[in-house]
Amino acid sequence: METIIEVRGISKAYGKRSTKEKVHAVRDVSFDVHRGEVLGLLGPNGAGKTSTIKMLCGLLQADSGSIHINGLDMGKKRLKALENISAVLEGNRNLYWRLTVRENLEYFAGNRGYSRKQIANQADKLLQQFNLKEKEHELVNGLSRGMQQKLAIAVALLADTDVILLDEPTLGLDVEVSYELRKILRTIVKEEQRTIIISSHDMPVVQELCERAIIINKGEVVVDDRVDNLMRLFETRAYSIKLGGPLSVGQENKLRFRFPMSTYTAHAHESVLEVNLEQGQEIYELFDLLKEDGTMVESIDRTTIDFEQVFIQIVKGGMAHEMVPSI
Ligand SMILES: Nc1ncnc2c1ncn2[C@@H]1O[C@H](COP(=O)(O)OP(=O)(O)OP(=O)(O)O)[C@@H](O)[C@H]1O
Ligand SMILES: [Mg+2]
Repeated sequence: METIIEVRGISKAYGKRSTKEKVHAVRDVSFDVHRGEVLGLLGPNGAGKTSTIKMLCGLLQADSGSIHINGLDMGKKRLKALENISAVLEGNRNLYWRLTVRENLEYFAGNRGYSRKQIANQADKLLQQFNLKEKEHELVNGLSRGMQQKLAIAVALLADTDVILLDEPTLGLDVEVSYELRKILRTIVKEEQRTIIISSHDMPVVQELCERAIIINKGEVVVDDRVDNLMRLFETRAYSIKLGGPLSVGQENKLRFRFPMSTYTAHAHESVLEVNLEQGQEIYELFDLLKEDGTMVESIDRTTIDFEQVFIQIVKGGMAHEMVPSI
């Protein structure tokens, strides 16, 4: 597989004017992206996603480390490297607000040196693909946020670069538009051999579109793995256990202490325990805890898990803790 993006040990700290303290937004982050890969960049608020993306598209200079795009060193051949990238950043849509939807598409297609006919064809294709045909003669200024976002992504596609960076493409969009955008992105991912990095909090976006996910927390990479691997890994750990009766207060307290990510719901006739067990060993510890007050186990099932739960487990649970080197 051909590496198209090579990131080695990049760091970025911002100075705080008031206290002279530094915020270490990105710390020694390294990863590779292969040509044609769709990579999810995830992490809680303030994790360093936007800073990383800004360094990749040249809006921010890394304090240290290196970035190569298509073999071009961002430090030495910045402009050449940037020819390979288009980006749609959160809150910063590269559109002309006083032009119409169609005029924007035609303007950016014109920049690529297409003929008049090609420009019109490109604009028609994108209007269709992004479901913007009805709005083609409206000013960008008056469009809803969702439509502006769709247009911004269409414009980024027009640039025909190998790499597309999308920072929080569904942020602030309502459920319907977010779903529609996901569908459009899925088609683009399938049809075009682009390399795409999507930063997102929106886990269905990641689960549906990305083959691989990098999770960053407090500026550091804590996980870099295929999404299906992560799902499988966590799927085998998630259990739903039906109990014959309620837990005693003592058992509940011990449970919270020993398995902090578990949830316990007591009903009149049965109680249910949802728990993630990290090593095979832990199930015996759990049974010992249940045995203490003679709690009966009625059934044990593996629960299905979605990427949202995987993410929460990694960021809030033990995994990040285990993997993040202490500083
Ligand atoms: N221009 C700036 N000046 C000072 N600190 C900044 C600046 N930009 C970001 N930060 C800080 O750097 C850290 C990383 O921010 P960044 O925006 O990269 O995170 P993020 O993962 O994109 O977060 P979010 O999910 O909220 O978008 C945060 O602590 C943030 O407050
Ligand atoms: Mg951000």
